[in-house]
Amino acid sequence: MSLENVTKAVPARLSDDGTAVVCIDQTLLPNETVYLTLSSAEDLWEAIYMLRVRGAPTIGVFAAYAIYVLSLQTKQAAFDAFYVEFKRNKDYLDSSRPTAVNLKKQLDRMERCVLAHREEPVEKILPALKQEALDIHREELDMLAAVSEYGLTLVKDGDGILTHCNAGPLAMSPGLGAILLGKERGYEFHCWVDETRPLLQGARLTSYELTLAGVDCTLICDNMASIVMKEGKVNACFVGCDRVAANGDTANKIGTSGVAILAKHYGIPFYVFCPSSTIDFNCKTGADIRIEQRKPEEIKTKFYEKPMALDSVKCYNPAFDVTDGELITAIVTEKGICRAPYTESLKALFGGDEK
Ligand code: MRU
Repeated sequence: MSLENVTKAVPARLSDDGTAVVCIDQTLLPNETVYLTLSSAEDLWEAIYMLRVRGAPTIGVFAAYAIYVLSLQTKQAAFDAFYVEFKRNKDYLDSSRPTAVNLKKQLDRMERCVLAHREEPVEKILPALKQEALDIHREELDMLAAVSEYGLTLVKDGDGILTHCNAGPLAMSPGLGAILLGKERGYEFHCWVDETRPLLQGARLTSYELTLAGVDCTLICDNMASIVMKEGKVNACFVGCDRVAANGDTANKIGTSGVAILAKHYGIPFYVFCPSSTIDFNCKTGADIRIEQRKPEEIKTKFYEKPMALDSVKCYNPAFDVTDGELITAIVTEKGICRAPYTESLKALFGGDEK
């Protein structure tokens, strides 16, 4: 079993002819396996906004391929005009979702690639952009493997592990990586999978990935995390992240901070799995992280046969929350395991400078 390919699903890649981005439509899983081949700016934007592609690292990789594909379509032969169009496409893609830093970070990296080749003809910039996107993808998969190795040192055979949202191969995230690696090496874990309201990434994606990998797992509603912890069924909590501030405050799927508070109450370690592509040293604390607000329909009508609240009822639908660094037992990265104080431990491993 390869960590990046448990479901055989391809979260994001270039099409065989190199002119489009191919991704599995994660909104249709686990019932339907549908691949999308996207090449227009609107379709690429919509795929991110609607969470057809989702999970911080996958969004970053997808965006890198997307900006390359859009750059191929430019008719501009002169650098300045090409760059103006590049920036327009970049800003548009970047506007699709605000919280996962990988989106902006990988688009910024693609822009640096354009600028590094500014003295060359546009037709030379395009292969450089393609290579940069492929490098971003490869690096993300390498980080996934390295973080997973460190993560496996934090648990033992037979442990119960609670998960929130989906931080597995579909997200190109190492949150499930240690569990999948452990399975490969003969560990038997039991996973308690939070369904993760309102978009059910835990129910639809995490329990799917774990089941396909042969990992014993049980789906629970989010409000059942407390009882399984109290019953002594959970030895550790594993979550991914969308943006980690310099002080370790961590934005992740809504509900994560509640899990961390419960874990602290019950004395259970709470681990964040974080490739360095998700650290944002420009955010000093979690207060600097912008939280995405989404539509009321996701709470009131989506997944239901009939609306579950009156049309007039107001909804508050933040897609993420920030877990205070002090609630996090460790942040697991590809270079090692960081512990509090995170301002020092993250800086020691990664230098603290944002590119
Ligand atoms: O809204 P989503 O599904 O893109 O949110 C994803 C999460 O919050 C994941 O837990 C996170 O990205 C982990 S993947 C690094």
